[in-house]
Amino acid sequence: MQPPRDLRGPWLPLLSWFLLLCEVARAGRALVSCPTACLCASNILSCSKQQLPHVPHALPSYTALLDLSHNNLSRLRAEWTPTRLPHLHSLLLSHNHLNFISLEAFSPVPNLRYLDLSSNQLRTLDESLFSELQFLEVLLLYNNHIMAVDRSAFEDVAQLQKLYLSQNQISRFPLELVRLPKLTLLDLSSNKLKMLPLSDLQKLPAWVKNGLYLHNNPLHCSCELYQLFSHWQHRQLSPVVDFQEDLHCVSAKKLHSVFSLNCSEYKEHASVAHLGDAVTIHCDTRQQGMTKVWLTPSNERVLDAVANSTVTVFENGSLHFRRVQVEDGGVYTCYASGEAFNETLSVELKVYNFTSYGHHDTLNTAYTTLVGCILSVVLVLIYLYLTPCRCWCRGVEKPSSHQGDSLSSSMLSTTPNHDPMAGGDKDDGFDRRVAFLEPAGPGQGQNGKLKPGNTLPVPEAAGKGQRRMSDPESVSSVFSDTPIVV
Ligand SMILES: *[C@@H]1O[C@H](CO)[C@@H](O)[C@H](O)[C@H]1NC(C)=O
Ligand SMILES: *[C@@H]1O[C@H](CO)[C@@H](O)[C@H](O)[C@H]1NC(C)=O
Ligand SMILES: *[C@@H]1O[C@H](CO)[C@@H](O)[C@H](O)[C@H]1NC(C)=O
Ligand SMILES: *[C@@H]1O[C@H](CO)[C@@H](O)[C@H](O)[C@H]1NC(C)=O
Ligand SMILES: *[C@@H]1O[C@H](CO)[C@@H](O)[C@H](O)[C@H]1NC(C)=O
Ligand SMILES: *[C@@H]1O[C@H](CO)[C@@H](O)[C@H](O)[C@H]1NC(C)=O
Repeated sequence: MQPPRDLRGPWLPLLSWFLLLCEVARAGRALVSCPTACLCASNILSCSKQQLPHVPHALPSYTALLDLSHNNLSRLRAEWTPTRLPHLHSLLLSHNHLNFISLEAFSPVPNLRYLDLSSNQLRTLDESLFSELQFLEVLLLYNNHIMAVDRSAFEDVAQLQKLYLSQNQISRFPLELVRLPKLTLLDLSSNKLKMLPLSDLQKLPAWVKNGLYLHNNPLHCSCELYQLFSHWQHRQLSPVVDFQEDLHCVSAKKLHSVFSLNCSEYKEHASVAHLGDAVTIHCDTRQQGMTKVWLTPSNERVLDAVANSTVTVFENGSLHFRRVQVEDGGVYTCYASGEAFNETLSVELKVYNFTSYGHHDTLNTAYTTLVGCILSVVLVLIYLYLTPCRCWCRGVEKPSSHQGDSLSSSMLSTTPNHDPMAGGDKDDGFDRRVAFLEPAGPGQGQNGKLKPGNTLPVPEAAGKGQRRMSDPESVSSVFSDTPIVV
C-alpha cells in the first residue's frame, strides 16, 4: 500500500497542474469568440465608435490589429488586456480621451509596430514609456497636449522610423530623437518651439533633415535660422519645399516668413582641403541606402576596387582621398539611385597648394610673437615702475640705465619675428627696440597680416544638389501608413 501512495503523492500536483492547463486551453478556445462591441474579421478587431469607457476584456490572443479609436477611453492601465497579444502589430487608440498611460501598458504587446495615440489628452511622455516597444516603427502622437518629451522616453525604440508630434505644446527641441538610428520622419510642426539647436541640425545628414518638419512654430528670427532653411531649400528638402509658407519666425512680437528676413544670401560652400590631407567627401542623399557612383571632374568613374589609386569609394558611398593633391580639386558628381528616386549631387573640392601643417606653423609663429609682445609690455611696465627708484638713487647714471633697457628688451623679446611672411628672424636684432617701445602696434599688424591666411578665399558655390523632385515620404504618408494585415 505504501509504495503506490508514495507515487501518487508527487504525481497528484502534476496531474492537477495538467488539468489546469487543459482548462486554460479550453478557456483560450472559448476566447475565440469576438467581443460584443467589436467587429471581427479573422485577426482584425474593429471596436471603434462604440463609446467604450474601457477596453473590452477577453481579446483573442491572435489579434493582429486592434482598432479602439473614437471611444471614451481615458486611461490605459497596465492590465488593460489580461491576455498577452504577441501578434498585435497595430494598435489604434486615436480620438479617445486618454490622459494616462501606465508605464507597463505596452508589456502585453511587445511586437507592436504601429501605434496611434493621436487626438487624445496626453500631457507628458514619461521616462521609458515606450521602451518595451522594440519593434515600433510608426508612432502617432499629434493633437495631444504634450508639453515635454522626456529625454529617455524613446531610448530603446531603435526601430522607430516615423514620429508625429505635431499640434502639441512642445517648447524644447528633442534633439535626442533625431539621433534614433532609423528615424526618417519627425514632425514637430505646430508646437511652441522658439529656439532650435541650429548647428546640430545643420550637421544632420540630409535624409534626416528631409523628414524634419518644423513649420508653424514661433521660432526666434535670426539669420542663422534663415541660413539653415535656405540650405534646406537649396537641397530641395521636403520640410521647406512643401511648407515654405508656414515656416514662420517671431521678431519684435511680429510673425515673419523666414524667407522674408533681410539676411545675406545663402551660398553653398566648397569642401576645402590642404595638400596631402586625407579627405572624405560625403554623398549626402535625401534617402538612406542608395547606390552611389562618383564621377571625377574629368568625368571618370571612381572605382572602389583599385588598391593603389589615390581616391576610393567607401562602402557607405563616401569618396575618400588618402593624400589629396592640388590636381584633385574640382567638381565631383555623385549619382545616387534608390528604389523610389534617383539623385545627383555635386560637391566642389578645393585643394590649396600648401599643407595644413605649414598653415598651423604660421599660426604658432603668430602665437609666440603675441606672447613675446605681451611679455615685452610687462617688462616695460616693470621697467617703468621699478627703475624710478634706481633713477632716484643714482640719477646721473643715465647712459648706463639706457643700456640696461636695451639689454632687457633684447633678452626677453626672443620671439622670432614680427612678420610671419618674411623668412629671416635672426638679422632683425636691432629692430627689437621698435617692438619694445610700441608693443601693441606690431601685435595688431600681426593679426591683420594673419587674417588673410586664416580665412582663405572662400570659393564660389558649386551647383550643388540638383535633383529630381519625387518624394515618396511626403506628409500624406500619415494616412498611407495604415498597416496591412497579414
Ligand atoms: C465618457 O466618460 C466620461 C467619464 O470618463 C463620462 O462622464 C461620459 O459620460 C462618457 N461619455 C459617454 C458618451 O459615454
Ligand atoms: C526687409 O527689408 C525690407 C525693405 O528694407 C522691409 O520692407 C522688410 O520689412 C524687411 N524684413 C524684415 C523681416 O525685417
Ligand atoms: C596601380 O597598380 C597597377 C597594377 O596593380 C599598376 O599597373 C599601376 O601602374 C599602379 N598605379 C599607380 C599610380 O601606382
Ligand atoms: C563612411 O564610412 C567612413 C569610414 O568607413 C567614415 O569615415 C564616413 O564618415 C562614413 N560616411 C558617412 C556619411 O557616414
Ligand atoms: C534611376 O536610374 C537608373 C539608371 O541609373 C534607372 O534604371 C532607374 O529606373 C532610375 N530610377 C528612377 C526611380 O528614376
Ligand atoms: C605648388 O607650389 C609650388 C611652389 O610653392 C610650385 O612649384 C608648384 O608648381 C605648385 N603646384 C601647383 C599644382 O600649382
